Amino acid sequence: MTVLTIDGLSKTFDMHVLGEKQVVGLDDVSFEVDDGEFLAIVGESGSGKSSLLKCIYRTYQPTAGRVVYHDTGGDVDLAACPERDIIALRDDAIGYTSQFLDEIPRVPAVDVVARPLCEQGVPNDEARTTAESLLSRLHLPEELWDAYPATFSGGERQRINLAQAIAPKPRLLLLDEPTSALDPETRAAAIDLLQEYLEDGTTVIGVFHNRDVIEAVADRVVVLADGRVRQVVPIEEYNGEVFA
Ligand SMILES: Nc1ncnc2c1ncn2[C@@H]1O[C@H](COP(=O)(O)OP(=O)(O)O)[C@@H](O)[C@H]1O
Ligand SMILES: [Mg+2]
Repeated sequence: MTVLTIDGLSKTFDMHVLGEKQVVGLDDVSFEVDDGEFLAIVGESGSGKSSLLKCIYRTYQPTAGRVVYHDTGGDVDLAACPERDIIALRDDAIGYTSQFLDEIPRVPAVDVVARPLCEQGVPNDEARTTAESLLSRLHLPEELWDAYPATFSGGERQRINLAQAIAPKPRLLLLDEPTSALDPETRAAAIDLLQEYLEDGTTVIGVFHNRDVIEAVADRVVVLADGRVRQVVPIEEYNGEVFA
């Protein structure tokens, strides 16, 4: 079964400060994503990886093309559907972590991670227990669980973002360089967690800049260059282009 069909997706940015100039973020990108698949997006800096995830999550409004989410109740074009449908899908089915560390409210770390579970109706105690186990598996020191993440280091905040995104086990999860600020040991723990916790039912589209990580997690690789798809290959056929 297919979860997502991306068809002719383009995004251009009008740069008013540069007169009439337009910057191309994505140019006629098409591929499909299967249920339960782990798809890695790779490419040089500026090749359109973040723009692709943002067009799927509709943080960016695509300029052209379709992003068809095959929902259980029917197809939804994420590029064209009303804002309220996007908001409902974000609550329920589609998760996202930004490449940059999100602003985190003045709430204890464990509650930041537990919140999406509580919003899904999981009892508070159970949600906190799940949150604690995720933070523990990401090696976040226990004395930080009840502290405010606003004061955390980059790597600590990245772990909060990742734990919060995976906690509710969305059907489709978009991860933009989720382990970039982690040391190798914590990164390995994060990868183990991603694989185990999301094993049943979550489809992941992830931007990673580390070849070892991709080889550990990905089923297929999409290589972007200058906003275009250069190749889409099973991991067994990926030659490490971009990381060479
Ligand atoms: N909000 C934006 N406004 C203008 N240009 C943008 C914006 N977002 C991305 N771009 C441009 O689109 C291209 C792709 O960027 P991006 O998707 O961030 O690439 P990557 O994540 O692969 O580094 C770059 O040329 C970038 O400058
Ligand atoms: Mg990026």
